[in-house]
Amino acid sequence: MEIRKAAKEDLTDLAGIYKSAFEKHLIFEKDEQEVIDYLTPKLNNMIVAVDGRVIGGCIIKTEIENTSHKLSRIQHLAVAPEMQSMGVGTELVKEAEKIIGRGKIEVRVAEGEAIEFYRKLGYTQEGALTNHYRKNETVLVLGKNI
Ligand SMILES: CC(C)(COP(=O)(O)OP(=O)(O)OC[C@H]1O[C@@H](n2cnc3c(N)ncnc32)[C@H](O)[C@@H]1OP(=O)(O)O)[C@@H](O)C(=O)NCCC(=O)NCCS
Repeated sequence: MEIRKAAKEDLTDLAGIYKSAFEKHLIFEKDEQEVIDYLTPKLNNMIVAVDGRVIGGCIIKTEIENTSHKLSRIQHLAVAPEMQSMGVGTELVKEAEKIIGRGKIEVRVAEGEAIEFYRKLGYTQEGALTNHYRKNETVLVLGKNI
């Protein structure tokens, strides 16, 4: 398996992965072309795991960066359903952390989703948001300082 920066050609596969990983999602439940259009401007900030084909990916967004502080977010992390629980998600997060390099990393995870996955990687809960992605849903803010 290789982890590398995403290319335009990866977006169809990645859109398919997001559509099956996030069935209830404002963007990813739209049709494939709309998902590709949403992802295209984010290409520069996207990494993918590849094993003959794209099997997972995520987006790295740095929101604040100056000499004393850096705040980044890992967003839209997903692994193809048939490739989950094989360490791919862990490798994607580790590579994202390597690219980010320093500072604070934040992830937002809906309650009942992959919170345990991030805890195992050293992320701890720092807050909770209500009605964030969907009404009546709590999203936990998890963070890690690297
Ligand atoms: C969450 C996700 C990215 C994890 O990737 P993965 O490749 O399946 O995870 P790994 O194989 O690296 O798992 C590492 C550890 O986390 C645990 N884990 C993985 N997914 C988990 C989940 N959804 N809930 C709880 N624990 C989870 C694994 O059991 C494993 O534990 P172990 O090391 O003790 O065996 C993947 O399951 C996925 O795409 N899920 C659907 C989308 C999603 O929930 N994305 C994250 C929220 S933004």
